[in-house]
Amino acid sequence: MDFNVKSGEADTLRGACAIVGVAAPRRLSAAASRLDKIGGGRIAALLKSGDIDTDLGKTTLLHNPGESVPVGRILLVGCGKNKQLSPKEFLTVAGAAARALQNTGAADALAYLTELDVAERGLGWKARQIVIAARAAHYRFDEFKSRDKTPKARLKRLTLAVNGRTQHNEVKAGVARGLAIANGMELARTLGNRPGNRCTPGDLAEQARQLKKTHSSLKVEVLDQKAMEKLGMGALLSVARGSRQAPKLIVMEYRGGKKSAKPVVLVGKGVTFDSGGISLKPGKGMDEMKFDMCGAASVFGCMSAVAELGLPINLVGVVPATENLPDGDASKPGDIVTSMSGQTIEILNTDAEGRLILCDALTYVRKFNPDVVIDLATLTGACIVALGHEATGLLGNHQPLVDALLDAGENSCDRAWQLPLWEEYDEQLASNFADMANIGNGGAGTITAASFLARFTRDYRWAHLDIAGVAWKSGGEKGATGRPVPLLMQYLLARSGKSDA
Ligand code: BES
Ligand code: MN
Ligand code: ZN
Repeated sequence: MDFNVKSGEADTLRGACAIVGVAAPRRLSAAASRLDKIGGGRIAALLKSGDIDTDLGKTTLLHNPGESVPVGRILLVGCGKNKQLSPKEFLTVAGAAARALQNTGAADALAYLTELDVAERGLGWKARQIVIAARAAHYRFDEFKSRDKTPKARLKRLTLAVNGRTQHNEVKAGVARGLAIANGMELARTLGNRPGNRCTPGDLAEQARQLKKTHSSLKVEVLDQKAMEKLGMGALLSVARGSRQAPKLIVMEYRGGKKSAKPVVLVGKGVTFDSGGISLKPGKGMDEMKFDMCGAASVFGCMSAVAELGLPINLVGVVPATENLPDGDASKPGDIVTSMSGQTIEILNTDAEGRLILCDALTYVRKFNPDVVIDLATLTGACIVALGHEATGLLGNHQPLVDALLDAGENSCDRAWQLPLWEEYDEQLASNFADMANIGNGGAGTITAASFLARFTRDYRWAHLDIAGVAWKSGGEKGATGRPVPLLMQYLLARSGKSDA
């Protein structure tokens, strides 16, 4: 799908479909009102007769709106009854419009949505969100359907209509960011959706090399088992023992900033399938543990988006990748391993494997002399208990970093919520036999998991995103979401001085 930007008024721009807002009570957006004037007042009449729903996110498609009207259809999107939309409401409007558009026969469309008034957000932000919404509605994952592939949607081009030159540049910049983020989210979703047998640690390593082919600004290095043994990554390797797939530590580097600028380091959990290991999970819904590499997938997504935009920052992405399976040689409850940091760990539950692979990756990244390190992981079921599927769990050892991530989540409507990292929780990790156990024993599972990681991140500013509740959807809409790419990209854009709120 192509996107472009055009200046002009709604009664002059031609196209197969115009998308405009309507609000209660019977309020037409500026573009809707222009279209209605030349169309003889049909929209106003239909509003009056109650045939157009103005509730937030409700859509009505008007065919053949009149001879002098320069579009073949008008898609009316309900904006509710408030004069101003909240950012979240704007996402609902853009998403509803994008989905409704897929069901029309229109090959191109003109969106008059940047004219909607959104609290505390500007044109560039609105343009970015329209592109992300349109691409999300367009996305299909049918790599493994041999027939009945979803017919290609007819929509080929979406034009964002603006009035005036000054708006043009702002909207164009927003579209470019939206495209890069949408591409990153799509990559994250596709990697997440691939089944465990087609998305192994080796496949992820191959994906990194592929990404380097697309973006020559990336450097990629893959550490194999031997290299990890040399580094003493006993925690990471203890998880891989039960698997016949070779583990990989994937390192991607993007240098767009000054040579001297310390990098942002992203570390993503890449468990390509989590059966629980010897502490085997129950069978119901276990297929969803193919999504246990969604942290890794979002790291790929961010590397791709940052490289596409050529942001003036230095960014490193690190992905520890392995399967977690039961086997005669698998780690057992009670086993003690030595991490790369030298700290010993008693594995009381082999299903708490994410922290075992992350702790060695977090020790490894010290070599980059990072400005900040952010890890993202589908780490605990407890996070879903605490926050459901709305917010990412956020914990960290440097409050300004945590605040910046909370802001980025708020700005991008990809929100996170902070949980405390008090030492009282850390006490739960005491072990009679090693420096620490890999699980707590008294609730607050998301916090004890983060407390575990905190023992490996003392040398730098660090934040942890627990994305167990947000990285994928279950049920009829089962599939990866691409979160938290929008949050992280907003954080990185803000750091680059390129935010456009
Ligand atoms: N990958 C899971 C966490 C998870 C579970 C995410 C369900 C999303 C949905 C993780 O490896 C895990 O199994 N965590 C355990 C930790 C426990 C053994 C302390 C959990 O959450 O049950
Ligand atoms: Mn697990
Ligand atoms: Zn896991």
